[in-house]
Amino acid sequence: MNVVLGVSGGIAAYKACELLRLFTESGHRVRVVPTAASLHFVGAATWSALSGQPVSTEVWESVHEVPHVRIGQQADLLVIAPATADLLAKAAHGRADDLLTNTLLTAHCPVVFAPAMHTEMWEHPATQENVATLRRRGAIVIEPAVGRLTGADTGKGRFPDPEAIFELCRRVLARGADAGVADLAGRHVVVSAGGTREPLDPVRFLGNISSGRQGFAIAGVAAARGARVTLVAANAELPVPAGVDLVRVGTALELREAVLAAAADADAVVMAAAVADFRPADYISVKIKKVEGVEPAPLALVRNPDILAEISAHRAVPGQVVVGFAAETDDALRHGREKFIRKGCDLLVVNEVGADRAFGSANNEAVILSAEGGETAVPYGPKAQLADQLWDLVAARLA
Ligand code: CTP
Repeated sequence: MNVVLGVSGGIAAYKACELLRLFTESGHRVRVVPTAASLHFVGAATWSALSGQPVSTEVWESVHEVPHVRIGQQADLLVIAPATADLLAKAAHGRADDLLTNTLLTAHCPVVFAPAMHTEMWEHPATQENVATLRRRGAIVIEPAVGRLTGADTGKGRFPDPEAIFELCRRVLARGADAGVADLAGRHVVVSAGGTREPLDPVRFLGNISSGRQGFAIAGVAAARGARVTLVAANAELPVPAGVDLVRVGTALELREAVLAAAADADAVVMAAAVADFRPADYISVKIKKVEGVEPAPLALVRNPDILAEISAHRAVPGQVVVGFAAETDDALRHGREKFIRKGCDLLVVNEVGADRAFGSANNEAVILSAEGGETAVPYGPKAQLADQLWDLVAARLA
């Protein structure tokens, strides 16, 4: 595929070298279009050597090839990484004063911006309005990561991990140049993932074997389709997808609080987490000791709130789409249909737990039930494939 990597003038330009390598090593042809300011951070020779392509910043070089039109027209994907506040402003206003901004106006392909800047600049209303404008037009603007910035400060504005940006771009390329590529742009979606742990004492808990992979794939795919994503992750140690706001939780009660808070303005909520139905009635604040010759006391449990049923019954936003999961070990579809009625959600993903699917596996196979009685079979395949089919159904309901 023909990828155009636009680089604007931020220190994260050096991390874009790694992104470029990820593209070229997986067989893509990459044309790097840096801004003049970005050459303060990484020089043209580096881009030219790494991409094997000529590099120019202005429209006045090789004019006979009309590069300001040709590069954009031939691109299958345009990714601007890093995108500075200035570049976002120019893109939002359709300015065209160098090769990169001209290319932005001539490209018909999906456009991904990976902003990186100081928190104040990112949060400034001017930048936020520019981002909203770009998203409304169908561009994918990745939410910056939170962490260490240039200098001693930390906050939101960090350039996401190049591997995570590459993964997002791979998903965008896989969906093709169709107009629906950023069909979740402007939407806020909440995804829960992983398995809750209910503490018994300082070193023990009641838990489950959920890895969080399906939820993380759902979150990553939503970001690649343009959504603002809040991922509420319970005890899942997985790479965080680019553009996803991560909230880490431990217990079912913490998960409930985080999901309800994020759902207040969400267009869709996907409850992929394996939430413990019960928690120990009493938390023992010191480690429980065994006593020779004494039988252990029976474990008293209390019910956890059913978060999915609660969200379904009290939608914070009219038309909010609520999705549940049902992982079953036998007679999955019958149990799933019964669960669907109990939960009151719009869509329910029913999957049978097995050695090579659902919990812990990279793959899954499912049937997605819809409130109108529809049943969509998702064939065995990667969890991202299920995620795409799920978002197709959610996007159709939102539209
Ligand atoms: N769920 C939830 N809150 C709970 C338990 C589950 O929100 N306390 C959500 C899960 O995130 C999932 C769905 O409900 O989306 C199905 O959970 P599951 O545990 O399979 O169903 P249960 O209602 O617990 O039914 P059963 O135990 O009979 O299988």
